[in-house]
Amino acid sequence: MSVRVGAALAHSNIAFSKYWGKREYVGNYPATPSLSMTLDALTTRTKVAFDPALSADRFFLAGAEQTGAPLVRVSGLLDRLRRETETSEFAEVQSSSNFPAAAGLASSASGFAALALAAVSALGLDWDKARVSDLARRSSASAARSLYGGFVELPAGPPEPTARPLSARSVALPSHVDWRLVIAVAGLGPKAVGSTSGMEETRRESPYYRSWLDLAPGLHEELLDALAARDLPRFGSLAEKSAYAMHASAMAAGVVYFNGVTLEVLAKVRELRAGGLTLFATMDAGPQVKVLCEARDAAAIADALRTVLGVRRVVEARPAEGARAIEASEVSS
Ligand code: PMV
Repeated sequence: MSVRVGAALAHSNIAFSKYWGKREYVGNYPATPSLSMTLDALTTRTKVAFDPALSADRFFLAGAEQTGAPLVRVSGLLDRLRRETETSEFAEVQSSSNFPAAAGLASSASGFAALALAAVSALGLDWDKARVSDLARRSSASAARSLYGGFVELPAGPPEPTARPLSARSVALPSHVDWRLVIAVAGLGPKAVGSTSGMEETRRESPYYRSWLDLAPGLHEELLDALAARDLPRFGSLAEKSAYAMHASAMAAGVVYFNGVTLEVLAKVRELRAGGLTLFATMDAGPQVKVLCEARDAAAIADALRTVLGVRRVVEARPAEGARAIEASEVSS
C-alpha cells in the first residue's frame, strides 16, 4: 500500500469561560463548560503521512524529532484513530507553529486540532467537524474548540461515566463582534506544570476546587448571554472572574502559573481601565496575559503593554476561522 498523506492548519484559541478540571472517569471529559475565541495570530500547520514502511510513529516539531511524552500524546491520538478505522500503518507527523509550544499560548489546542484533522484527511475519511472535534478533545479538550472559528463552546462531560462523543460547537461567527485579544508574552520557557497535572493537583489538593466547579456553569451561561448581546464590558468582567476563580482554585493547591511580569501586566490593565479604557484580562496555564478589548483600542493597549518591564513580545489577535485541510506542501519540514 502507498503512503497516505494529509495536512491541516488550525489556529489556537483562548477561553473566556475556563475549562479547568476533568471528570474522574476515563476519556478526557471536562468537568466545566468553556467558551473560547479562535485566534488568527497563532497558527499550527501539521502533516501526517501513514506509511506502511514505518515500524513506529515519528513526530517532528519545528523539524526536531520528539521522543517521550510529546510523542506518546501524538501516538495516543493516532492509536484511537487506528482503532476506530482498523488502520494498521504508523505515521510520520511534521508540525510547526508560529509561536512557542507549552508556554500558555494554547499550543496543544492548535496542535491537536491540526493533528486530528490532518490524520483524518490522510485516511480520506468522510468525518464531519464534530467527529474530528471529539477525536481532538480526547487528547486535549481545548483542541476540540479549535476546529471551529469565531466563538466556540465545549460543554462539560456528563456527571455519570460515558464513552459518548463530546464535541465543541460554534456559538458566534468571527464577524459577530469587532473585538481583539492583545497577548502580552510574559515568559517564553515551557511551563513548570502542564495543564493535565495542574488540574489533577487542583482536584486533589485545592480547598476551593468544589467552589470553582459550582461557580463555573453559571458564569458560562452569563458569558454566552453577554456575547449574544455583544456587551464587551459585561463579557469582559465575567471572563476576568472566570480566569481569577480558576487560578485561585489552582493556587490554593500550590499550582501557580503567574510570574512577576504577569502581575505587572495585570496592574497595567487595571491602571488603563481606571484611565477610562475598556479592557479585560484572562490567563491560562502559563504566565501570559491576554487582554480583550475593542478593535479600535487594540493598538494603544498593545503599546501600553509593551512598556511593562519584562514583557517579551505583544501579539494582537483577531477572531479567526476554524481548522481546515491544506496541501501537504504548505507544511514546512
Ligand atoms: O486542553 P488543555 O489540556 O490544554 O487545557 C486547557 C486549560 C486552559 O487553557 C487553562 C483553559 C481552557 O479552557 O483552555
